[in-house]
Amino acid sequence: MVNYKDLGLVNTREMFAKAVEGGYAIPAFNFNTMEQMQAIVQAAVETKSPVIMQVSKGARSYANATILRYMAQGAVEYAKELGCENPQIVLHLDHGDSFEICKDCIDSGFSSVMIDGSHLPYEENVALTKKVVEYAHQFDVTVEGELGVLAGVEDDVVAAESHYTKPEEVQDFVSKTGCDSLAISIGTSHGAHKFTPEQCTLVNGVLVPPPLAFDVLKEIEEKLPGFPIVLHGSSSVPQDEVETINKYGGALKAAIGIPEEQLRKASQSAVCKINIDSDSRLAMTAAVRKVFAEKPAEFDPRKYLGPARDNMKKMYEHKIVNVLGSNGKL
Ligand code: G3H
Ligand code: 13P
Ligand code: ZN
Repeated sequence: MVNYKDLGLVNTREMFAKAVEGGYAIPAFNFNTMEQMQAIVQAAVETKSPVIMQVSKGARSYANATILRYMAQGAVEYAKELGCENPQIVLHLDHGDSFEICKDCIDSGFSSVMIDGSHLPYEENVALTKKVVEYAHQFDVTVEGELGVLAGVEDDVVAAESHYTKPEEVQDFVSKTGCDSLAISIGTSHGAHKFTPEQCTLVNGVLVPPPLAFDVLKEIEEKLPGFPIVLHGSSSVPQDEVETINKYGGALKAAIGIPEEQLRKASQSAVCKINIDSDSRLAMTAAVRKVFAEKPAEFDPRKYLGPARDNMKKMYEHKIVNVLGSNGKL
């Protein structure tokens, strides 16, 4: 059993309470590689932001669960080396889909886990989430549950709305499970292919995706005053990165992400954790493709992974400072 406190990590409890109170959101960035980890830490330290480094099931199988945990421990030490006296770094399991994977993470040094029972019938979601909470809280590990299902790219807007979190369920879910935060569905969507141009409306020559359901968020906040709310699927799919990728041989389909002003508005509410993965993938791929195209004779990985790291850092800093507002909160 490895306790996250011995690794210098923190859980989300205090961080979220401050974020809800202060009207900002904590960035939750997914990582699979050393360069992503370094870029996340550099950005968090330079902007003096708390940060959640999250690991999916796919990341665990790609990078190896033990290595990722040592990387998170390394992230804490790296932040200190960069001059941050008291880094606030959470190591979080993203989209845990069973009690066993959550237990495995808790036992190996994670400070926070998500149990995603959102696809299960309500009572099964409650029972599974409660089981994870009971185990996690013995070790002061915090737990994110989920109610409502995020839309897939292929879903039409009306179908997506039918999967929004039902405000009338949230109090019952939180009180029965004891979870520490709740991921909700109000119109965000995973991946870099949200939303298709056909799903958007042309406003003054700009394609605008369907707006987030702030009315649903408000109802949820009224049912759970001050309770930490989480938004998944919050990449904005920066058009300049997509253009760079396609200019240098990529073949990404046209897509419009979640507008940053909507995420800014959400950050000022009870939404205190915003998940971003796809934008980091785009930033990395754009930088790598550019080097490959402009310097075809280059074969030293540091010469393309270095620019990829710098580009991701720039993106992380932008999110922290201009969208989530978690800068200066350490
Ligand atoms: O929400 C999912 C995250 O973007 C992780 O994606 O399962 O491909 O690692 P992944
Ligand atoms: P994006 O695909 O929008 O970056 O969402 C990431 C996410 O929700 C991770 O859990
Ligand atoms: Zn997610």
